[in-house]
Amino acid sequence: MTHQQTAHTAPVEAWDAIADRYDKHVAPGEADVAAAGLRLAGLRPGDTFLDVAAGTGGLSLPAARLGATVLATDWSPEMIDRFTARAAAEGLDAEGRVMDCHELDLPDGGYDVTGSQFGVMLVPDQAQALREMVRVTKPGGRVLVTAYGDPGEFEALHFFISAVQAVVPGFEGPAEDEPLLEFQVADPDVLRQRLTDAGLTAVTVDTSHRERVAVRTGRQLWDWALGGNPVPGALVADLTDRQRDDVIGVLDGMVRERSDSTGTAVLTAPLNIGVGTKPAHSKE
Ligand SMILES: C[S@@+](CC[C@H](N)C(=O)[O-])C[C@H]1O[C@@H](n2cnc3c(N)ncnc32)[C@H](O)[C@@H]1O
Repeated sequence: MTHQQTAHTAPVEAWDAIADRYDKHVAPGEADVAAAGLRLAGLRPGDTFLDVAAGTGGLSLPAARLGATVLATDWSPEMIDRFTARAAAEGLDAEGRVMDCHELDLPDGGYDVTGSQFGVMLVPDQAQALREMVRVTKPGGRVLVTAYGDPGEFEALHFFISAVQAVVPGFEGPAEDEPLLEFQVADPDVLRQRLTDAGLTAVTVDTSHRERVAVRTGRQLWDWALGGNPVPGALVADLTDRQRDDVIGVLDGMVRERSDSTGTAVLTAPLNIGVGTKPAHSKE
């Protein structure tokens, strides 16, 4: 199956290209978000856990550390390579496989918990990806989807756009008339409905957690922004080296202004953490 690439959809090569930055600057900061999601999904030691659009393991590594047997899947070979290296270095019970989330190459009903953190949130055919997550989950098992909430409250994104605007007058950021796929379930009611439509019951969407991006320098925030998603990098692709250095300088000032007494600035974003149960009487 192939999926139409739209202007909003980064191709796999774009994710491959940011895998190193993702591994170093983004995934390690996701431990709290992952812990919240895995707790809400009721993951227990000994469970089988499938991670969909797993990246370098922001959710899979914490799941394996909790004692689950983990399969991490992602369409980007570069992401999976880094996940595999980290899992091996820690001696975790975890495997990585390259796979498109719209068409999981896995049998029906194999996993106690299937999760996706900042993954199926952003794919073009989300309904299909959610149906696949439900299909491969055991009857009575749970499906977890962690996604960003209201983009208006996404502080790191607003810091980044403001800093570029300070250096490049007229820079507007993402086009407002073309909403980013990344925020397609920013409304918790939409996420609840999509999980229900995918065949899940007892669906809950927790909005009490926030992502916390902790940085000490403008450079760290720049690396986080460009490492987390191909979109920011595409927006600043035409900047000169001088302009890029100036943006990082502006970010430095913004981070310093926000810093606490330890020199750390914590930028937050709202989260929707959705969990549903696959009906026990389901055939799959
Ligand atoms: C923002 S990252 C999230 C990674 C990880 N889940 C985490 O929480 O750190 C999004 C991931 O989705 C993957 N991805 C995007 N489209 C995909 C698709 N169609 N199938 C599988 N993975 C996909 C990207 O390669 C990337 O690793």
